Amino acid sequence: MNGTVFAPWLDDVQGHWNQRPMRLQHHLHEHPALQLDALAALVESYPRSHYALVHTSRHGDGSARWREGDLGGTPGRAVIEAIAGGSLWLNLRQANERAPAYAQLLEQAYAEIASRVPGFEAGALKMGILISSPGAQVHYHCDLPGQLLWQIHGRKRVWVYPAAAPCLQPEWLEDIAYTGFEFSLVYDASFDRMAMVFDLEPGQMLTWPLNAPHRVENADCLNVSVTTEHWTPENRRAQKVHLANAVLRHRLGLRPRSRALVGPHYWAKAALQAAWRRSPWAGQTQKALRPLEFRLDPQSPGGLVDSSIRVA
Ligand SMILES: [Fe+2]
Repeated sequence: MNGTVFAPWLDDVQGHWNQRPMRLQHHLHEHPALQLDALAALVESYPRSHYALVHTSRHGDGSARWREGDLGGTPGRAVIEAIAGGSLWLNLRQANERAPAYAQLLEQAYAEIASRVPGFEAGALKMGILISSPGAQVHYHCDLPGQLLWQIHGRKRVWVYPAAAPCLQPEWLEDIAYTGFEFSLVYDASFDRMAMVFDLEPGQMLTWPLNAPHRVENADCLNVSVTTEHWTPENRRAQKVHLANAVLRHRLGLRPRSRALVGPHYWAKAALQAAWRRSPWAGQTQKALRPLEFRLDPQSPGGLVDSSIRVA
């Protein structure tokens, strides 16, 4: 890396941040901490509580089957080789808390954005690293915080949809806030006509308007991507309104229409969602943790062995 995270910004970018999807150039893929050897070492030190390893396959009827598994102490290089072999993805959450190099890159990236985008103010920054197989897909979904997708290794195609009906309904955002499950969206292939489609290569990143639905398909090669997450003050207010509206709808049978982020409606909802978070019911609505159904084992046929480990 030559000292900055972003390659020189184009002059027309600043006025369009969060207004439309944009593909920008960056240097993260050149950083030593994001080369495959460094990632292999990182994988070996990753705590169980901070990663998800998922194997995808098909049931007999053709429907998708997801199983979550354990790295089983497999050496980092062998983990990456197994992922390159197919049907796996590994999400290393909050890498910025695991090593100072990632925290520094994250801070620097957002400092550069703040220096170029007037009024941009973001906190609660997180960086995840996703290592995924050739052809792997991330299905249609949206994220409540702001997110950026940085390509490090391999190539992928990303479809970004308008953050408006019919591609996104307000109730879907409310359900994500209520359940913590970001795949609570209903995809229709006709939405593709409204999508902007981007091919990402190492050194390219993608930003899109808040909550814009998206889906991803890897090209036929191992992929390493970084995802960064941020919350702006407006994001946080919207999150409180989404959650309060979901509580009013699911628990009280009401049909809240206001989504105001200021004024008395907003403050009443901020109080309601705070009370809800403290209530014993709040945890019951969140998506349950999956059991761990396999562990990696490069010595066994297929590279996996079934298991029934359950980790809280
Ligand atoms: Fe996403």
